Amino acid sequence: MSKRVYLDNAATTPLAPEVFDAMAVVLRDSFGNPSSTHSFGREVKGKIEMARRKIAKMLHVTPGELIFTSGGTEADNMAILGSVRDLGVKRVITSPLEHHAVLHTVEDLENQGQIELDFVKLLPDGCVDLAHLEGLLKDEKPTLVSLMHANNEIGNLLPLDKVSAMCRQYGAYFHTDTVQTMGHYKFDLSQLDVDFLTCAAHKLHGPKGVGFLYVNKNIRIKPLIHGGAQEREMRGGTENVYGIIGLAKAMEMAWEHAEEHQAHVQGVKDHMISLLKAEFPEVQFNGACSQSEQSLYTVLNVQLPATQKASMLLFSLDLMGVACSGGSACSSGSNKGSHVLRALENSNVERPNVRFSFSRYTTKEDVEYAVECLKSIYSKEAQLK
Ligand SMILES: Cc1ncc(COP(=O)(O)O)c(C=O)c1O
Repeated sequence: MSKRVYLDNAATTPLAPEVFDAMAVVLRDSFGNPSSTHSFGREVKGKIEMARRKIAKMLHVTPGELIFTSGGTEADNMAILGSVRDLGVKRVITSPLEHHAVLHTVEDLENQGQIELDFVKLLPDGCVDLAHLEGLLKDEKPTLVSLMHANNEIGNLLPLDKVSAMCRQYGAYFHTDTVQTMGHYKFDLSQLDVDFLTCAAHKLHGPKGVGFLYVNKNIRIKPLIHGGAQEREMRGGTENVYGIIGLAKAMEMAWEHAEEHQAHVQGVKDHMISLLKAEFPEVQFNGACSQSEQSLYTVLNVQLPATQKASMLLFSLDLMGVACSGGSACSSGSNKGSHVLRALENSNVERPNVRFSFSRYTTKEDVEYAVECLKSIYSKEAQLK
């Protein structure tokens, strides 16, 4: 295979070379255990705390409000399980489109009889029905609302300001999974009233296996992972030092160039939309892709024309060097299909649905190649008819 094009950045992003360099220095030179009190340990502990302070400054929070975790899944679990165990939450409101790190956690709590679970209604394009959310909140049960900022499969954005204000008004706690958006937008948490927020480094050109949970300083929850006194006694276990350094560097780069990256990636996405419309008049877009203010600029979920080889489409693209996804990579290997597309009123699971997702390294030539490959797959099928 000669040409390879990576259009699966919602699954994970390539590590930025600058992030690799920042991590490599620490990996090579700073091996001390951050909990050791001698100079080797203190040196590494200092680097972790420096990384925490940098991230806190970008987000306008205090360093003590950030707990480094093994990534998005752990942070989501910690927020939800901590709210129920330590904050007296008796009901969780979420949406059927959440990531399984949220959905499976709340379903498990419901099965154990620990919470009541309410799903907020969706509009036909998959956006959260805010009027319904408000209706649910009006009964003022002790509630956690857990809603993601951007959906990882279809890219729909949640108006965080409106939802956080509504949660405050009705006395509910609010957790948002910002795994797909942290670093793609610059968050200022002094302006946004959330209780918990989840981040994973590998979606913003950082390393895998590291992220953080932001916990508002007015809230006290207990650790999810017990052991040592790391993370101000909030998470036991020797820290993922290189990961944390990489996460801080990735965020620094994202913050510094946010507007430039957004303009570039939105341009790539718009280019692919127009190419697809020109080549495949029947094409549809899942979710709210056509309204850019409601759609994450890195994700494009496409409903392609029907083909007898729908199940082979991703495989054929892969053979031609194009990496993309049929749902979320986190559930690939299961043959249940996408729970997100199944929950959408305007989707068509009989047609091939493909998620293309972009990053600052994606070029217009990359998406042109992908569309050429799609054309060739469809024209071969037409010739066989
Ligand atoms: C929205 C969302 N939340 C959570 C996760 C899980 O994050 P991690 O892979 O760091 O555990 C993902 C990963 O795909 C995601 O897209």
